Amino acid sequence: MCGIFAYLSYYVEKDRRYVADTLLQGLSRLEYRGYDSAGIAIDGDSEAETLIVKQVGKVSALRAKVDSSELSWDKVYTTQTSISHTRWATHGQPSPINAHPHRSDNGNEFTIVHNGIITNYKELRTLLTNKGYSFESETDTEIVAKLLKYVFDSQRGQHISFTDLAKAVIKELEGAFAFLFKSVHFPGEIVAARRGSPLLIGIKAGENLTADFVDVEEITNAVAASSINEDKNPAYAKRAQSRSFSRADGSNQPLEYFLASDPSAIIEHTRRVLYLEDDDMAHITAKGDLHIYRLRRDDGLSSIRSIKTLEMELAAIMKGNFPHFMLKEIYEQPESVVNTIRGRVDFNKHTVVLGGLRNYLASIRRCRRIVFTACGTSYNSCLATRAIFEELTEIPVSVELSSEFLDRKSPIFRDDVCVFVSQSGETADTILALRYCLERGALCVGITNTVGSSISRETHCGVHINAGPEIGVASTKAYTSQYLALVMMALQLGEDRISMTERRREIINGLRELPNLVKEVLAMDSSIKDLSQTLYQQKSMLVLSRGFQSATCLEAALKIKELSYIHCEGIMAGELKHGPLALIDEHIPVLIIMTKDAYYPKVQSALQQVQARKGNPIVICNTDDTNIDDAALKTIRIPHTVDCLQGILSIIPLQLLSYHMATLNGVDVDFPRNLAKSVTVE
Ligand code: F6R
Repeated sequence: MCGIFAYLSYYVEKDRRYVADTLLQGLSRLEYRGYDSAGIAIDGDSEAETLIVKQVGKVSALRAKVDSSELSWDKVYTTQTSISHTRWATHGQPSPINAHPHRSDNGNEFTIVHNGIITNYKELRTLLTNKGYSFESETDTEIVAKLLKYVFDSQRGQHISFTDLAKAVIKELEGAFAFLFKSVHFPGEIVAARRGSPLLIGIKAGENLTADFVDVEEITNAVAASSINEDKNPAYAKRAQSRSFSRADGSNQPLEYFLASDPSAIIEHTRRVLYLEDDDMAHITAKGDLHIYRLRRDDGLSSIRSIKTLEMELAAIMKGNFPHFMLKEIYEQPESVVNTIRGRVDFNKHTVVLGGLRNYLASIRRCRRIVFTACGTSYNSCLATRAIFEELTEIPVSVELSSEFLDRKSPIFRDDVCVFVSQSGETADTILALRYCLERGALCVGITNTVGSSISRETHCGVHINAGPEIGVASTKAYTSQYLALVMMALQLGEDRISMTERRREIINGLRELPNLVKEVLAMDSSIKDLSQTLYQQKSMLVLSRGFQSATCLEAALKIKELSYIHCEGIMAGELKHGPLALIDEHIPVLIIMTKDAYYPKVQSALQQVQARKGNPIVICNTDDTNIDDAALKTIRIPHTVDCLQGILSIIPLQLLSYHMATLNGVDVDFPRNLAKSVTVE
């Protein structure tokens, strides 16, 4: 998990300052993917030179280092290729030496950036060490740079293309990757490849360069796989001719490429993008032509990659007047919930139509069971909606953590429906769970926020939650939109059940009121900020409830932990007397969610148990609840809505509370320590 970004320009004069600024700006957009260290590799003063600058910490630290470096800023390029990286450490601690780009040797002959994990790096490292290579970092990535040099050197005297070389090296690798390769031996060229980690290419071209797709070309066998391990002399064959994205009229029109882990780093330069599929290898030639090849042949993927137009707005990924993306995203919820519902719910006829599921409804209704699979906050959204899903559809639902599900190798059958919920659509554990279920013939449904993401492309059908880009590492608006999308899916699936007509009508009316109620909750922000002043120095906290609010407890505890670094546990009230009650004393704050629904009396008795042990409860209850005495208890009062939607309103004050406690604790809220937004490694 990391962010990678490249900027390439052809037949257009760009000075070094512009190139460096473009890279740093691209990296800052990707910083949410990791921010342990960052680095860039740019062309030197001659073609035979690549310059690398790396720094520990965030992109701002790298910018300071670049600015204070000895680089000559007036250098002007007509063609240049530069790559960059922002890191979330997996192998080796954050340090300048472990930062990317990694290089093959002191002369920077090959420089590479990588997002993912190479699982067989130890074997390859031993092999290369035995061949006399020494390593400067502890990373898995460095072996790839060394391997490029090793294969290149072993072919000296024979012509080897950059693509043949890259393919030969990639053949040796196991694991997940999105790579960008740059080399002084192939000036003006870049090879990019992906398997399991996202990568797309933005194209900014002159008028005559208006291709709307790129052919996937055949690449004939490069270096035999065994050649690296057994020192065999490889044979090369010629590349087959095919169409590509290239100059239609042979002119030297300006052409720029922006390769990135996600569109947020590209949108300010161009809206025309091409998503690489798993096992695609892209080659941009010294003339700026783009070719795409497959690293594997045995699949039924389309032989073209379309150039799509990005619909997202740059403003949507900027902070606006908010100090943090997280706060902005919490405050966007009145709008994001509308966007999730918009065009899908008919409030007069009381119906829901999710277009992405329309052709699959009959198969889903026939299934034996539904399995929700997700991680973190997305997992909590599944837990939050399981009860209403089962109630409206009468189909048994199980909820799985992607990693645990894979560890167990849980049995999956052709008549199962598997639903994969992921904000990013790129979470490695969830993608692997999806592929596991696809192999077993289950119908796979994706619920994601990211159009074009791996999960939305690899599932049979699905729903985009339309919450808009979520940049803050802690998920907020995606949670409420995932919650809504799952409720809407249950409403649509259950529409053939006459006995549920009234219940569906009640929920759909609730959906209509929801955006205004979300606004009412947000209006309580200043009182929640006051409450945070009394809590932010605590060592430990509990969040307690049951029924529809159980998942809210887990989600609130996750937010408090990841942002405030305060230990916090979500407790199911029914379990209180089976152990957690021992934690209660006059010191530990206990947030109790006690909204009016069928479980209210049971949560009330949990409150009494806490009070009887001199506990320190803070009650989240409905505005109109007269049983609770504000003079005797600390309360957060939220508007009442339908039981199964109440969790959307009760999580918002807890998102705000975790935000304020974190800022009081001096945490960089959008980048909490050790975390990253999109976890693209297992
Ligand atoms: C917590 C958080 C994470 C993510 C999890 C799954 O605030 O954001 O727990 O929910 O990493 O990510 P997605 O939804 O992108 O699959």
